[in-house]
Amino acid sequence: MKINQALADLPAGYLFAEIAKRVKEYSANNPQADILRLGIGDVTRPLVPAVVEAMKQAADEMGTPEGFHGYGPDFGYDFLINAIIAGDYLSRGVEIAFDEVFISDGAKSDVGNLQELFGNDAKIAVTDPVYPVYVDSNAMAGRLGKYENGKWSGLTYLPCNAENGFVPPLPPQRVDVVYLCYPNNPTGTVLTREQLQKFVDWALENDALIVYDAAYKAFITDPAIPRSIFEIPGAKKCAMECCSFSKTAGFTGTRCAYTVVPKELVFSGVSLNRMWGRRQATKFNGVSYPVQRAAQAVYSPEGQRQIMENILYYQENARVIREGLTAAGIQTFGGVHAPYIWMKTPKGLSGWDFFDLLLNKAHVVGTPGEGFGPSGAGYFRLTAFNTLEKTREAVQRIIQAL
Ligand code: MLT
Repeated sequence: MKINQALADLPAGYLFAEIAKRVKEYSANNPQADILRLGIGDVTRPLVPAVVEAMKQAADEMGTPEGFHGYGPDFGYDFLINAIIAGDYLSRGVEIAFDEVFISDGAKSDVGNLQELFGNDAKIAVTDPVYPVYVDSNAMAGRLGKYENGKWSGLTYLPCNAENGFVPPLPPQRVDVVYLCYPNNPTGTVLTREQLQKFVDWALENDALIVYDAAYKAFITDPAIPRSIFEIPGAKKCAMECCSFSKTAGFTGTRCAYTVVPKELVFSGVSLNRMWGRRQATKFNGVSYPVQRAAQAVYSPEGQRQIMENILYYQENARVIREGLTAAGIQTFGGVHAPYIWMKTPKGLSGWDFFDLLLNKAHVVGTPGEGFGPSGAGYFRLTAFNTLEKTREAVQRIIQAL
């Protein structure tokens, strides 16, 4: 059997698996350490009552002959697709057709899988630092060349750093696909409408695709900042958008998300909407009925009010981290429209050295910037998803450790 050499050759482990492994080892050797986790962006607030109630009702229905559901529609139940279109798009003046929405079990799976739409020799660009799934999934498909000195030879990196205000430059050479994630993971920064329009204009001029990951859109506090790339004129001809209930409504363990693939999205004369539908219908069997009912409940008036309370809670955590570290003289970025705070490591430490220092001296876990790409060197990411008490404690411990 000939193996997929590109997958076999992938460097190191998946970032968050690697961190979990290191923390587990540390914990086993130091069982008395009370470790505070601000590493992986996993939520801590329980599901809101409106969501739980809808899930329970749907589970009860499933136990009756009339209410039982077997395989659902390939791309999601009508009730959820219609709720998404009304709640996330029409409410912001964006028209999305019913058959442009594809329900899935996660934005991570969608952003990892959608590279199957690209030719083997498609050229890819990512903002740098970046959510590692975009890079790893293209590397697994053998599209990125060789990994040398922390970089893929065939990947175009668009550096985002303190010097350029974390605004990525347009690709300096021809690429077929650009991945954009806003609010950004890991830097927690956003793009304005004008900055996003430049990417849309560039994609239209260059017959390129934008993969837009909007998993963190619920954290945007300024109505002037776009929540969807489809708020930008021309985007339906050049972009697909991945969204998730994970961070919006605490579904990290429940699993529900959606991707919008506009019908105007046509490359080499072929509709990406048709291709994605064909791919999903073949390889995916949908999200369970109770979970889709639970996701629908997110859009009810009480669901909206309740999830907003949780988002405000996490935003307060972000403020505690940002203001606490800044007052202690640490340079921080993001964390205003996003649950991530991106900080400069002190004393020029590498992200991994700082990771070790914090774990050993403060028993606090964060994520080293290097894990997100070469431009992450010398930076560190903290999440706002822990409890307020633990977040306060973590900030104190970090300051003391320094
Ligand atoms: C992160 O920490 O970057 C996120 O949890 C990743 C994810 O949502 O898969």
